[in-house]
Amino acid sequence: MGNVVYPKHLGIIMDGNGRWAKEKGLNRSLGHKAGADNLIKLLDYIYKNTSIKVVSLYAFSTENFKRDKNEVDYLMKLFVTLFNSKLESIKKNNVKVVFSGRRENLPKNVLEAMDKTMEDTKYNTRGILNICLNYGGDYEIVDMTKKIAKQVLEGNLKIEDITKEVVSKNLYQDLPPLDFVIRTSGEKRISNFMIYQSSYAEYDFPDTYFPDFDSKCLEESLDNYRKRDRRFGNVK
Ligand code: FPP
Repeated sequence: MGNVVYPKHLGIIMDGNGRWAKEKGLNRSLGHKAGADNLIKLLDYIYKNTSIKVVSLYAFSTENFKRDKNEVDYLMKLFVTLFNSKLESIKKNNVKVVFSGRRENLPKNVLEAMDKTMEDTKYNTRGILNICLNYGGDYEIVDMTKKIAKQVLEGNLKIEDITKEVVSKNLYQDLPPLDFVIRTSGEKRISNFMIYQSSYAEYDFPDTYFPDFDSKCLEESLDNYRKRDRRFGNVK
């Protein structure tokens, strides 16, 4: 860890589970299972071996509800299992778990598992794990706008007092900006992932499918991040 530079806030778009399974002649759902097993190991590595403070994960987009019902049902069950038991190692690492996204449309057992996970980890201090579930960056901006408009209408906020800080506080979570976003599987899109928070993020698009994206792959991506010259609009 020493003097090595790490992003403070890392985003991961966990893509390629379906293709990983297909190439092995397996059902897509088994790709998600393999992705989830990999995720647990990867998070344990991150919180034990790096100084990364915040990790944001794209677990399920608002658009993912359009997928085949069997696949959606499988993913929802996987989330419940993960939150109820597999995230134990995250809790041991003293990490606070929060969620971003809309609660509507999520099954009751998923919402309960989410609430319990937040409650169980709310005093943890090592870092934050932000799980984007039923999430769309466009909806996050819509929902933030509604919250701010309501405060103005109710006389609790003046229009001239709307600052970047106010915007940030009214997003799903008030987190530092994303420094680095990794999207696995070779697709080069951001697909509505934290569009406000990633305005100055660096990106890496490794070809590896998410189930195979291990700590060695992560270190390679982090090496790429360290080579970037982050100027935030300034000249050097
Ligand atoms: C994208 O792969 C992946 C998803 C839609 C689900 C990601 C979920 C997990 C890894 C499970 C555990 C996660 C958490 C945070 C609880 P894809 O299906 O789009 O793959 P493809 O592009 O190859 O079809």
